[in-house]
Amino acid sequence: MAFPKNFLWGGAIAAHQTEGAYLEDGKGRSTCDVLHGGKGRLTEIFDPQAIRSNIKAPRGYFPEHIAIDFYHRFREDLALFAEMGFKTLRTSISWARIFPNGDDAQPNEKGLAFYDALFDECLKHGIEPLVTLSHWEMPIHLTRKYNGWVSRDIIPLFVNYAKTVFARYKNKVMYWLTFNEINMTLHIPFLGSGMIVDDPAQKESMCYTACHNQLVASALTVRACHKMLPNAKIGSMVTSMTAYPYTCKPEDNWEKLELEFANYCLTDVQARGAYPSWMKHFFVSRKINVGINARDEKILRENTVDFVSFGYYASSAVSSDPVIRSQKTTGNVFGGVQNPYLKSSEWGWQIDPIGLRVALNFLWDRYQKPLFIVENGLGARDMPDINGEIHDDYRIEYLREHIRMAKAAVEEDGVELLGFTSWGCIDLISASTGEMSKRYGFIYVDRNDEGGGTLRRWRKKSFYWYRDVIASNGEQL
Ligand code: BG6
Repeated sequence: MAFPKNFLWGGAIAAHQTEGAYLEDGKGRSTCDVLHGGKGRLTEIFDPQAIRSNIKAPRGYFPEHIAIDFYHRFREDLALFAEMGFKTLRTSISWARIFPNGDDAQPNEKGLAFYDALFDECLKHGIEPLVTLSHWEMPIHLTRKYNGWVSRDIIPLFVNYAKTVFARYKNKVMYWLTFNEINMTLHIPFLGSGMIVDDPAQKESMCYTACHNQLVASALTVRACHKMLPNAKIGSMVTSMTAYPYTCKPEDNWEKLELEFANYCLTDVQARGAYPSWMKHFFVSRKINVGINARDEKILRENTVDFVSFGYYASSAVSSDPVIRSQKTTGNVFGGVQNPYLKSSEWGWQIDPIGLRVALNFLWDRYQKPLFIVENGLGARDMPDINGEIHDDYRIEYLREHIRMAKAAVEEDGVELLGFTSWGCIDLISASTGEMSKRYGFIYVDRNDEGGGTLRRWRKKSFYWYRDVIASNGEQL
């Protein structure tokens, strides 16, 4: 048997991409509640003035307002996850449900009660909750008042939020993650850190500052978790970028190394307890002062994570040649050119199962901490047939090959892997485009890109396939 007996098979979702009920039961508006749908919404379609001016009733369609209505339908959805045999469900807590403004003196009891009900329902089905404290959203009030994570004032607010949920769910949640894809804050500052960048010249310095503040908050959260929940485990989360040099030209290989430096520098801090030395030089050479002090360094050093989790969807290639560099793939938020040896998804993400095995070995070698694949999957357009059935063999094929490589990494390479949660195990709102039509799920949700549809759920072909994968502990692929 390749995968250990207690391997945590399951699925992953996030609060804002599923829950909806965006103002229900005392929840405050969060940053993702002001995002319209559409490609490029994370970087372009975004009106800073409207966000700052506190528009109460914005016009237009906001996909996250209803999302897939998980808030009201989670029992039905959990029953389906249980039918597939899930051992774990990764989801996030919406900070704005617990502290509607982020800096409130008291938490919102109804928000806390919602997650009580959700985690109880998980446990009833024998599903271990794996909870992300911050998955690309925060109370919008914190953007308006502090401009998000660029301000150190957010650190104690976040730690207070984390301690509140640790105290409340200490008997229910044993696996925690601090920040989703912390490295993405360097690329999509509003989603990653609730920060509005007015002057592009300031972007780099603001992004690194926001990241530093998140790193300190993450370490303080790890400390609180270890103290308050000695039996729990808390991890970091990064977007894994397996990158290949476009050619064997040394300059191309150097590009690859630089991309890895930049991509993993924050996880380096979370897992090893200090910034890598190249970063100190980088900050000096770029005249970036993120405000590191001796106390921060001590906190970072003493509070490293228990495991390293990551999301992996695609690999990329990097080149030092400006002409080749200009052929950027549409799927890449950052870096990367088209790799001629790989096929891409409809959204331009380059499909590369071996890249997952590379990522697992790379991360295991770099950190020597248990790993957890908390996101992997194929975003595709599903077309129900005349009977409404979805034969998503392309999704099965994608997942089969990726799980096969995860298995090889465990069995043949000796990587310690805690679990695998497939992203978007039920169709949900796409983070990058706000679309519903970019579907990842084993469960179809009847909702379209304009907000129409009955929200009814039904099983796709991949549902039965994944159920068998779990039942055989990854032997039957
Ligand atoms: C990850 C995020 O980067 O990618 C998820 O953590 C996101 O929130 C997922 O949904 C897939 O990206 P997209 O843009 O297809 O939803």
